[in-house]
Amino acid sequence: MGFLDKLFGRSPKEEETVSDLKIGIILGSVREGRNAEAVTNWIYDFATKRNDNVNYEVVDLANYNLPLLGAAVPEAGQADAEAAIKGWSEKMASFDGYIFIAPEYNHSVGGALKNALDYLKPEVANKAAGLVGYGSLGGTRAHENLRLIFGELQVADVQTAVTFSLMTDFVNMSEFNPAEYHAANANTMLNQVVAWSEGFKALRKELVTA
Ligand SMILES: Cc1cc2nc3c(=O)[nH]c(=O)nc-3n(C[C@H](O)[C@H](O)[C@H](O)COP(=O)(O)O)c2cc1C
Repeated sequence: MGFLDKLFGRSPKEEETVSDLKIGIILGSVREGRNAEAVTNWIYDFATKRNDNVNYEVVDLANYNLPLLGAAVPEAGQADAEAAIKGWSEKMASFDGYIFIAPEYNHSVGGALKNALDYLKPEVANKAAGLVGYGSLGGTRAHENLRLIFGELQVADVQTAVTFSLMTDFVNMSEFNPAEYHAANANTMLNQVVAWSEGFKALRKELVTA
Protein backbone atom coordinates (compact mmCIF):
# COMPACT_ATOMS: atom_id res chain seq x y z
CA MET A 1 0.00 0.00 0.00
CA GLY A 2 1.34 3.44 -0.90
CA PHE A 3 2.13 6.21 1.55
CA LEU A 4 -0.89 8.32 0.59
CA ASP A 5 -3.24 5.37 1.03
CA LYS A 6 -1.78 4.85 4.46
CA LEU A 7 -1.90 8.53 5.38
CA PHE A 8 -5.55 8.89 4.41
CA GLY A 9 -6.55 5.52 5.85
CA ARG A 10 -7.66 3.97 2.55
CA SER A 11 -8.36 0.20 2.78
CA PRO A 12 -5.45 -0.89 4.95
CA LYS A 13 -4.83 -4.62 4.88
CA GLU A 14 -4.97 -6.18 8.33
CA GLU A 15 -1.31 -7.14 8.48
CA GLU A 16 -0.32 -3.59 7.59
CA THR A 17 -2.19 -2.13 10.56
CA VAL A 18 -0.01 -4.03 13.04
CA SER A 19 2.41 -1.50 14.41
CA ASP A 20 6.04 -2.46 14.79
CA LEU A 21 7.32 0.92 15.79
CA LYS A 22 10.31 1.79 17.89
CA ILE A 23 9.95 5.01 19.84
CA GLY A 24 12.79 6.42 21.91
CA ILE A 25 12.04 8.30 25.12
CA ILE A 26 14.95 10.70 25.36
CA LEU A 27 15.88 11.72 28.90
CA GLY A 28 17.11 15.21 28.14
CA SER A 29 18.88 16.34 31.32
CA VAL A 30 22.22 15.19 32.69
CA ARG A 31 22.02 17.32 35.84
CA GLU A 32 22.82 15.53 39.11
CA GLY A 33 19.57 15.31 41.08
CA ARG A 34 17.56 15.86 37.92
CA ASN A 35 13.77 15.67 37.94
CA ALA A 36 13.97 14.19 34.46
CA GLU A 37 14.28 10.63 35.76
CA ALA A 38 10.93 10.62 37.58
CA VAL A 39 9.19 12.26 34.62
CA THR A 40 10.77 9.79 32.19
CA ASN A 41 9.72 6.83 34.33
CA TRP A 42 6.18 8.17 34.48
CA ILE A 43 5.85 8.60 30.71
CA TYR A 44 7.54 5.24 30.02
CA ASP A 45 5.12 3.43 32.36
CA PHE A 46 2.19 5.34 30.90
CA ALA A 47 3.21 4.57 27.31
CA THR A 48 3.94 0.87 27.83
CA LYS A 49 0.62 0.33 29.65
CA ARG A 50 -1.23 1.43 26.50
CA ASN A 51 -0.33 -1.92 24.88
CA ASP A 52 -0.18 -0.23 21.49
CA ASN A 53 2.36 -2.65 19.96
CA VAL A 54 5.03 0.02 20.12
CA ASN A 55 8.46 -0.77 21.47
CA TYR A 56 9.32 2.12 23.81
CA GLU A 57 12.92 2.50 24.98
CA VAL A 58 14.44 5.03 27.35
CA VAL A 59 17.64 6.71 26.13
CA ASP A 60 19.49 8.51 28.89
CA LEU A 61 21.76 11.33 27.67
CA ALA A 62 23.85 10.90 30.81
CA ASN A 63 24.95 7.46 29.58
CA TYR A 64 26.60 8.95 26.49
CA ASN A 65 28.91 11.56 27.95
CA LEU A 66 29.00 13.44 24.66
CA PRO A 67 31.73 16.07 24.29
CA LEU A 68 30.70 19.58 23.31
CA LEU A 69 30.33 19.49 19.55
CA GLY A 70 33.61 20.52 17.92
CA ALA A 71 35.54 20.95 21.17
CA ALA A 72 39.04 19.48 21.41
CA VAL A 73 39.10 16.24 23.41
CA PRO A 74 42.30 15.22 25.24
CA GLU A 75 44.02 12.33 23.46
CA ALA A 76 43.38 9.95 26.36
CA GLY A 77 39.64 10.50 26.02
CA GLN A 78 39.34 10.45 22.25
CA ALA A 79 38.41 6.79 21.82
CA ASP A 80 35.66 7.11 24.44
CA ALA A 81 34.38 10.31 22.86
CA GLU A 82 34.24 8.74 19.39
CA ALA A 83 32.45 5.69 20.79
CA ALA A 84 29.94 7.93 22.57
CA ILE A 85 29.22 9.95 19.43
CA LYS A 86 28.84 6.79 17.32
CA GLY A 87 26.64 5.12 19.94
CA TRP A 88 24.39 8.17 20.20
CA SER A 89 24.07 8.49 16.44
CA GLU A 90 23.26 4.80 15.94
CA LYS A 91 20.80 4.68 18.83
CA MET A 92 18.89 7.73 17.57
CA ALA A 93 18.89 6.36 14.01
CA SER A 94 17.30 3.12 15.23
CA PHE A 95 13.97 4.77 16.19
CA ASP A 96 10.88 5.61 14.17
CA GLY A 97 9.86 8.40 16.54
CA TYR A 98 10.76 10.12 19.77
CA ILE A 99 9.40 11.49 23.02
CA PHE A 100 11.74 14.19 24.32
CA ILE A 101 11.77 14.82 28.08
CA ALA A 102 12.83 18.44 28.00
CA PRO A 103 12.97 20.71 31.05
CA GLU A 104 13.26 24.47 30.67
CA TYR A 105 16.60 26.18 31.33
CA ASN A 106 16.71 29.97 30.96
CA HIS A 107 13.53 30.03 28.87
CA SER A 108 15.07 27.55 26.49
CA VAL A 109 16.09 23.95 25.92
CA GLY A 110 18.91 22.79 28.22
CA GLY A 111 22.47 22.84 26.92
CA ALA A 112 23.05 19.08 27.17
CA LEU A 113 20.07 18.27 24.98
CA LYS A 114 20.89 21.03 22.48
CA ASN A 115 24.46 19.77 22.19
CA ALA A 116 23.25 16.19 21.68
CA LEU A 117 20.81 17.30 18.97
CA ASP A 118 23.57 19.21 17.18
CA TYR A 119 25.24 15.86 16.43
CA LEU A 120 22.20 14.64 14.49
CA LYS A 121 20.52 15.23 11.17
CA PRO A 122 19.87 12.22 8.90
CA GLU A 123 19.37 10.05 12.00
CA VAL A 124 16.19 11.92 12.93
CA ALA A 125 14.96 13.36 9.63
CA ASN A 126 11.42 12.46 8.55
CA LYS A 127 10.50 11.16 11.97
CA ALA A 128 7.92 12.30 14.52
CA ALA A 129 8.49 13.69 18.00
CA GLY A 130 6.39 14.45 21.05
CA LEU A 131 7.40 16.78 23.85
CA VAL A 132 7.20 16.35 27.61
CA GLY A 133 8.46 19.15 29.83
CA TYR A 134 8.40 20.77 33.19
CA GLY A 135 9.25 24.14 34.65
CA SER A 136 7.46 27.08 36.19
CA LEU A 137 5.30 27.26 33.05
CA GLY A 138 5.45 23.55 32.21
CA GLY A 139 8.62 23.81 30.15
CA THR A 140 6.64 25.36 27.32
CA ARG A 141 9.36 27.86 26.37
CA ALA A 142 11.86 25.00 26.02
CA HIS A 143 9.31 23.27 23.81
CA GLU A 144 8.86 26.29 21.56
CA ASN A 145 12.64 26.49 21.29
CA LEU A 146 12.84 22.79 20.42
CA ARG A 147 10.19 23.18 17.73
CA LEU A 148 12.48 25.67 15.95
CA ILE A 149 15.38 23.22 16.16
CA PHE A 150 13.21 20.36 14.92
CA GLY A 151 12.20 22.43 11.91
CA GLU A 152 15.84 22.52 10.84
CA LEU A 153 16.37 18.83 11.62
CA GLN A 154 13.27 17.86 9.60
CA VAL A 155 11.66 16.34 12.70
CA ALA A 156 7.86 16.53 12.79
CA ASP A 157 6.85 17.60 16.29
CA VAL A 158 3.22 16.88 17.17
CA GLN A 159 0.85 19.53 18.50
CA THR A 160 0.01 18.15 21.95
CA ALA A 161 2.70 18.39 24.62
CA VAL A 162 2.69 17.20 28.22
CA THR A 163 3.64 20.09 30.46
CA PHE A 164 4.20 19.53 34.17
CA SER A 165 4.34 22.47 36.56
CA LEU A 166 7.24 22.61 38.99
CA MET A 167 4.81 24.34 41.39
CA THR A 168 1.85 21.95 41.33
CA ASP A 169 3.08 18.64 39.88
CA PHE A 170 6.09 18.39 42.19
CA VAL A 171 6.33 18.59 45.96
CA ASN A 172 9.11 21.06 46.88
CA MET A 173 9.93 21.21 43.16
CA SER A 174 11.65 17.83 43.47
CA GLU A 175 9.18 15.06 44.28
CA PHE A 176 7.08 14.21 41.25
CA ASN A 177 3.35 14.03 41.97
CA PRO A 178 1.56 14.73 38.69
CA ALA A 179 -2.06 15.85 38.55
CA GLU A 180 -4.44 13.36 36.96
CA TYR A 181 -5.40 15.55 34.02
CA HIS A 182 -1.97 15.05 32.42
CA ALA A 183 -2.99 11.49 31.49
CA ALA A 184 -5.40 12.76 28.82
CA ASN A 185 -2.70 14.97 27.28
CA ALA A 186 -0.17 12.14 27.40
CA ASN A 187 -2.60 9.86 25.58
CA THR A 188 -3.29 12.43 22.87
CA MET A 189 0.41 13.18 22.44
CA LEU A 190 1.25 9.47 22.17
CA ASN A 191 -1.61 8.88 19.70
CA GLN A 192 -0.23 11.69 17.55
CA VAL A 193 3.37 10.46 17.73
CA VAL A 194 2.39 6.87 16.93
CA ALA A 195 0.20 7.91 13.98
CA TRP A 196 2.87 10.18 12.50
CA SER A 197 5.63 7.65 13.18
CA GLU A 198 3.71 5.09 11.14
CA GLY A 199 3.11 7.59 8.37
CA PHE A 200 6.73 8.71 8.28
CA LYS A 201 7.96 5.12 8.37
CA ALA A 202 6.00 4.48 5.18
CA LEU A 203 7.29 7.74 3.70
CA ARG A 204 10.93 6.87 4.44
CA LYS A 205 10.42 3.49 2.78
CA GLU A 206 9.06 5.19 -0.33
CA LEU A 207 11.88 7.74 -0.33
CA VAL A 208 14.44 4.92 -0.29
CA THR A 209 12.77 2.97 -3.07
CA ALA A 210 11.87 6.01 -5.23
C1 LIG B 1 20.34 27.00 35.03
C2 LIG B 1 18.87 26.82 35.21
C3 LIG B 1 17.99 27.64 34.59
C4 LIG B 1 16.62 27.48 34.74
N1 LIG B 1 15.77 28.28 34.07
C5 LIG B 1 14.44 28.05 34.14
C6 LIG B 1 13.55 28.84 33.37
O1 LIG B 1 13.92 29.73 32.63
N2 LIG B 1 12.23 28.55 33.44
C7 LIG B 1 11.74 27.55 34.24
O2 LIG B 1 10.54 27.33 34.24
N3 LIG B 1 12.58 26.79 35.00
C8 LIG B 1 13.90 27.02 34.97
N4 LIG B 1 14.75 26.26 35.70
C9 LIG B 1 14.21 25.23 36.58
C10 LIG B 1 14.28 23.87 35.90
O3 LIG B 1 13.30 23.74 34.92
C11 LIG B 1 14.15 22.79 36.95
O4 LIG B 1 15.25 22.87 37.84
C12 LIG B 1 14.09 21.41 36.35
O5 LIG B 1 13.92 20.46 37.39
C13 LIG B 1 15.35 21.09 35.55
O6 LIG B 1 15.28 19.81 34.99
P1 LIG B 1 16.14 18.61 35.60
O7 LIG B 1 15.88 18.56 37.09
O8 LIG B 1 15.62 17.38 34.93
O9 LIG B 1 17.55 18.88 35.26
C14 LIG B 1 16.14 26.45 35.59
C15 LIG B 1 17.04 25.61 36.23
C16 LIG B 1 18.40 25.78 36.07
C17 LIG B 1 19.35 24.85 36.78
